[in-house]
This record gives sequence, structure tokens and C-alpha cells, in this order.
Amino acid sequence: MNGETRTWNRPHLLDLESLSAEEILAILDTARSLKEVSTRSIKKVPALRGKVCVNLFFEDSTRTKISFSLAAQRLSADVIDFSASTSSVSKGETLRDTARNIEAMGVDAIIIRHRSSGAPHLLSRNVRCSVINAGDGAHEHPTQGLLDLFTMREHFSNKQPTNAKPKLLTSFAGLHVAIVGDIANSRVARSNIHGLAKLNAKITLVGPATLIPNDLKKLYPNAINISHDLDSVLPTVDAVNMLRIQFERLTSAAFPSVREYSRLFGLTKERLAKARPNLLVLHPGPMNRGLEITTDVADGNNSAILQQVTNGLAVRMATLYLCVGANSSHRSEN
Ligand code: CP
Repeated sequence: MNGETRTWNRPHLLDLESLSAEEILAILDTARSLKEVSTRSIKKVPALRGKVCVNLFFEDSTRTKISFSLAAQRLSADVIDFSASTSSVSKGETLRDTARNIEAMGVDAIIIRHRSSGAPHLLSRNVRCSVINAGDGAHEHPTQGLLDLFTMREHFSNKQPTNAKPKLLTSFAGLHVAIVGDIANSRVARSNIHGLAKLNAKITLVGPATLIPNDLKKLYPNAINISHDLDSVLPTVDAVNMLRIQFERLTSAAFPSVREYSRLFGLTKERLAKARPNLLVLHPGPMNRGLEITTDVADGNNSAILQQVTNGLAVRMATLYLCVGANSSHRSEN
């Protein structure tokens, strides 16, 4: 597999901030190889046969949870779904105790989504099995960032002049990506920022000043620009990632009204008409249709939103394969 020629020697995937460009490309290359498995009539390989993965989700999810379950199953691992509301967490058991008890049953990977930033990092210091971050508070959502990178890489590699087989990009230099909306509350934005910057893309964060923390630019001063004017940015970008307004995380009114937000920052057919014809439109889901994106754009020709979901499965297979797989050399060191 291509990914095996690149560097990967980690038991956990906690964030994209700590990964190198080579490690990011290792996951993307491995995902590229594993994507083909889902097109077979028997969609399974034995790579993780005998391994056990637990989905430890303390927040709701449709895409990520099903995607991780399917990814583990396609690699022949056993999968257990944990529901916080019907577990002993409701009796006051701590996250650490919950995880250590689950691990004591012989689990190889814990896939965790939690409302608290840093929860996966805490677990990784307290268990011996692999820990995969499926979204922690407003901090990071690394597999979402990776599937967004995978979708852009696949799209823009195919746009290169090519012979029979497109050469996959190993750098995003020359690509300009706008991330639009509720950046302050978005773990997707943070993972995208780290991933895009490490692959040398130019990034413009767009939204109301109340939803873009000023200090984000300090992370990658040479890569990040900030704008509050979507109309001036949109015609200059190759891809736009429209973020969900996270009403459940807003602590105060970040904009006067949803109508006002939609007028200034919503991606509409009229706005799209002023963008580059082949603009790639991304959204992590779930969407607030009619707010950050209109239905005609979400379901239109520029949209890669369902491709993102398809690619998410390949990226999560790659993540589990690299972190948990039998030939993972890091296991004995853990
Ligand atoms: N993008 C994403 O994380 O979606 P879910 O909340 O449905 O998992």
C-alpha cells in the first residue's frame, strides 16, 4: 500500500496539529488504497481481524459514528457501540474509569467524541489501547479534517494535466481555500487549518468578527488571512468549506439575526455565479439548509458534500489500519 512507504508510527490519532505533512500524506495515501475496498461486491479485508474497536460517543453523531463502525467492519474488526445515556456514566462514573473498564475487556481502539476539548488526549495518557479523536469540543475533529483534505486532493489532482493515471498532489501550494462561518466554535475549522497549512495551502477565514478568534492567524501567520467579506473572497478561492452555525455552542448572540447572517455569509446560487466555475464546495454536515448554504448549492454540481462522506469511510479505514493494524510497529512501545 502506498501509505506504507510514508512515515506513520503512532498508536493514536488525537489531532492534526501534532502531525507532520508526511504523516498526513501517509493517511491520505493509505485511504486512497483502501477506498477501493468499498467498491467490491464483498466489501471486506482481513486487516484488523481479531481486533475490537469501541465507539465511545458522548455527543450525537450520524456521519462520524456510522463511518467509524463501517470502517472497522470493512477491516474485519469487531465493533461495540457505547451509549453514554444508558451507561454507568449516568451513575457518576468518570471518563477515565469508563475507558479503563472498557479497555480491561480486551479492546484495541477507543474512538471517542466528547464535549470537552482534550478528552481524547487525557484518555491516551490513561489507557494502553489506541485512542482516535472523533471530535473534542471546539478543539479538533482530525478525521473530518483529513477527509476534507482527501476530497480536495482527489479533486485537484484530477484537474492536473494527466496521462492515464492522475499524479496525486503532495503539496497544496497554489491552492486557496476559504473556511466560512462559525470558526470560533468549530473543531472542523481547526483541523482543516492545521492540515491545509501543513500542506502549504493558502487559507482565508471568513465570517463575522464575533465568530473568528483573532489569535488563529498567529498559528500560521504566512498561511492565514482573515476577512469579513465573503463576496470579495469567493472569486479568489479554489475551494470553500461552509461551516455549520453551532447554535448549541454559541454562548451569546454572535450576529443580529439568522436572516442577516445568511445575507452576508450564506452560500447562495447568486454568490456561486460570481465564483470560479469549478469552485469546490464543501460542508462537514449536518447542514443548516437555507442558513450557511442554500439547497440548490448544497445539491448542485459544485458540491462535494456527499463525496466527503464517502471519502470519510476510506479515511477512517486508513486511520484504524495505521493505528491499530497488526503490523503497527508502535504497539510494543505503547
Ligand atoms: N461532520 C460530522 O462530524 O458529522 P456528525 O456530527 O454527524 O458525525
